Amino acid sequence: MARVLQWWSHSKTVALIWVVSAVVFYTLFQMALRNSNSASSGRYYAFISSLLFGSRENFVEFDLALMNFDFADSLVSSEVRRSKLYDGMARDLDEKGAAFLKQGETSQSLSLSDIFTLKDGSVEPVLKAAIPPVRANVLYLSTEYSVPISETVKRMVNPYFDNSIWFQNSSLYHFSMFHASHHITPVPATEDEIEAEANAVRATSKTLCPLNIVLDRVVLTSTGVLLGCWQVTSGTDPTTIRAKLRAALPRAPEKQLYDAAILHTSFARLLGQPKASAMDSHNSDLVQFFHELVARLNMELRGFRAVVSELWYVEEYDVLALALNGRMKVRRFQLGCLTN
Ligand SMILES: *[C@@H]1O[C@H](CO)[C@@H](O)[C@H](O)[C@H]1NC(C)=O
Repeated sequence: MARVLQWWSHSKTVALIWVVSAVVFYTLFQMALRNSNSASSGRYYAFISSLLFGSRENFVEFDLALMNFDFADSLVSSEVRRSKLYDGMARDLDEKGAAFLKQGETSQSLSLSDIFTLKDGSVEPVLKAAIPPVRANVLYLSTEYSVPISETVKRMVNPYFDNSIWFQNSSLYHFSMFHASHHITPVPATEDEIEAEANAVRATSKTLCPLNIVLDRVVLTSTGVLLGCWQVTSGTDPTTIRAKLRAALPRAPEKQLYDAAILHTSFARLLGQPKASAMDSHNSDLVQFFHELVARLNMELRGFRAVVSELWYVEEYDVLALALNGRMKVRRFQLGCLTN
């Protein structure tokens, strides 16, 4: 009799485990099915399989740009996510070569020849009206930090190029965070709506804490953009900043231009071949030349520390106004670091 009772209790435990497993599996399966109609089904599916099989690495390699369900962010820290992203960006030049020497596109899908002209031997931006104006939220890097960086970049890069280079204005070094409207998905707004957006961003900035950041690496993309890629040592993480801006700006485009974790600023855009004399020691191997140039920049700049304490709401009346000294209206907000 005792053995029968023991068998019965054991069977109940086994049955319970089976039922719980079945319910969990069924729930996850239904989640996958329900989302199979949406464009992001692949991502949900990847997320579910990474939960089941513990493959976090694969998940990170996925298209991060469109990840917009909040619990996924807890899978990897923003710091790890940024490192992986920067590794990938650094590989870009190896994989695609120096595409900008043919006719590259920027990260915003504009061919460079549309953006710049050579006039009397010097590079000038071609400004084009943005209709409707782009509304960008960017973190601002003060000239206390940007001027020394810009001077280092110019000193190290200028000797190899005959003017075929455009340097970011050091008064306008910025980290692109979140667009209320961009050129791929324009969101027209009235003056009142723009005022309301600016007020929402001002309120958000009060809850953000200044960021202590360190330059992780300098990267040259295959499109010829020389970027500084940063890590955060303290302050509000860019992932959180973007999530708060999204909540504050509900009409903003669903698809944003950059990964939620990235913290990058553009230093310069290379537009043409280095001087023949610069190439002599590299057997005309361009990619090798650029690698060495970037390595030297990294030796000088890696580890550079800065503090970011301003968020800007920018109406760009010209395409890429922040990058090309175009027309714009800037509203500047100090990060308040108030708890709420
Ligand atoms: C750089 O930006 C500042 C601030 O917007 C502006 O006053 C200055 O004219 C710009 N420099 C150039 C060369 O356009």
